Amino acid sequence: MPPFAAAFAAEGVPLVEHVLDGGVLDLAEPPAPGVWWSRMSASAHTRGHASSVAHTRAVLSWLEASGARTVNGRAVLELELSKVAQLTALAAAGIDVPRTVAVVGADLAAAARRFVADLGGPFVTKHSQGGKGLGVARFSGYEEFADTLASGALEDPFDGVWLLQEFIASADDSVTRAEFVGGEFLYALRADTARGGFQLCPADACAVDPDTGRPVLPPGATVAQEPGETIFSLHEGFDHPVLERYAQFLRRNGIEVAGIESITTADGRVVTYDVNTNTNYNAAVDAAAPRSGPREIARYTGRLLERAGSAA
Ligand SMILES: Nc1ncnc2c1ncn2[C@@H]1O[C@H](COP(=O)(O)OP(=O)(O)O)[C@@H](O)[C@H]1O
Ligand SMILES: [Mg+2]
Repeated sequence: MPPFAAAFAAEGVPLVEHVLDGGVLDLAEPPAPGVWWSRMSASAHTRGHASSVAHTRAVLSWLEASGARTVNGRAVLELELSKVAQLTALAAAGIDVPRTVAVVGADLAAAARRFVADLGGPFVTKHSQGGKGLGVARFSGYEEFADTLASGALEDPFDGVWLLQEFIASADDSVTRAEFVGGEFLYALRADTARGGFQLCPADACAVDPDTGRPVLPPGATVAQEPGETIFSLHEGFDHPVLERYAQFLRRNGIEVAGIESITTADGRVVTYDVNTNTNYNAAVDAAAPRSGPREIARYTGRLLERAGSAA
């Protein structure tokens, strides 16, 4: 939140933070005036916030039924919480997504055996309710997966939904995150996956191991990051036609703030696999970008606030 508080202050837009992690909500009470921007994270449960999802669902339902203006509201929360919802909505908007099966309350090993036989190549596992690389691991084949599963090393998804997904090989060991605010493309960020692995969190708070003070070597990384070395950069000149599809996808799904992740393959396929509706901006990249994410969010919600004020 601190980068957002600073951006809102700089833009002169009032900001009040509500931490939703359990509480009492009087459904008969009208909400305070304002614009309500949700930054609920799908991985909150991994930071000890077990009630956050249920609490946020309740608050957003109450706000929207009361006619309050939300940004990334109730329907967007469901998308944030489900990669199944993201991938199917992306595909419906004509966007290329990795081949994926969801395994819910069924034999994971048997599903993986069938998936690999059909796919004929490496795959990744992940949690449908993800964020911060939850459950993401790469397997070159069924045997390797079956051994890992049997060893108990795979942590179960919070909501019980596993994904098995085609592994997409990047042409240059990177992924791209395209940032949108108010439906408009701001800039693209490039993340070095050789050093960054599967835990793509651009916020400064995620970069250093709190115990050792050293950069973390996340699962999936192949090269150790040196102190001071950054894995994030501005992806200049990313003006692929997929951006227009993203804009349509966001409009169709009522998503107003998002970072959308893709991998470009050696043969030029741009494959999209993740939609982050509570994006964390990397401070250095954001400062180098033509427009700042937090500043644009402050301006955008500020305009909505003015409109809500003049309508009242
Ligand atoms: N299908 C895939 N092929 C190759 N790498 C992947 C694939 N899916 C995810 N990854 C890698 O794992 C990271 C985390 O996966 P992602 O789906 O974005 O989950 P999260 O919501 O936890 O960020 C990605 O940023 C990327 O580096
Ligand atoms: Mg991601």
